[in-house]
Amino acid sequence: MSEQIKGYTYGHAGQSPVSLADLDLLEKTVFFTENDVKNLQLAGEVLKDQTNEILDVWYGFVGSHEHLLKYFSKGDAPNPNYLAAVRERFKQWILDLCNKSYDQTWLNYQHEIALRHLVKKNVTDGVDAEPFVNYRYMIAFIYPITITIRGFLANGGNEQSVVEDMYNAWFKAIVLTTILWTYPYIKEDKF
Ligand code: HEM
Repeated sequence: MSEQIKGYTYGHAGQSPVSLADLDLLEKTVFFTENDVKNLQLAGEVLKDQTNEILDVWYGFVGSHEHLLKYFSKGDAPNPNYLAAVRERFKQWILDLCNKSYDQTWLNYQHEIALRHLVKKNVTDGVDAEPFVNYRYMIAFIYPITITIRGFLANGGNEQSVVEDMYNAWFKAIVLTTILWTYPYIKEDKF
């Protein structure tokens, strides 16, 4: 399925400037352990048939806020083709976040996604829209992307404590990826 997603270049991205050793230290810093890897895999099972509904919630949120929708727009005009193309890669990202091992290939694609919010924004889909996503919203998104997943995780019929474990693993994974995605925004040598 993933080969058919336009612009999804997992496995073909350039080298991340962040090393695996640095990633390991970041994982330690957010208490990310092997247990979280297992809980994310379980989350992947629970979420895999709900990605459309999750995207409905996230796009509903973006679409109802002019200051966010503007990143998919040229002036006041949102680009439906752009929204639709990114939506497919976003769905794949949910599965990747849960199922991929966080190795060099994964690290490289996180850097590619980072660039796609800043210097490479609009390039993948060949669109004319807002030139970059402002840094402050990258960080702010941690909250909505985290809190809105809880209900979807609970839909899997697992015990409350397991839902809680999956939720915490998801939260840590979001913090980790957001850190990696802000690399190009940070002054040289300060990351
Ligand atoms: C935690 C923060 C965020 C997450 C998890 C997230 C997730 C994603 C993902 C998975 C993609 C597609 C990556 C790919 O091409 O494979 C993407 C692209 C995009 N995101 Fe975000 N994003 C975040 C912050 C934001 C914010 C704050 C905005 C502003 C509304 C935004 C707007 C966009 C846009 C416009 C694209 C398309 C970029 C392009 O032209 O290639 N993102 N995002």
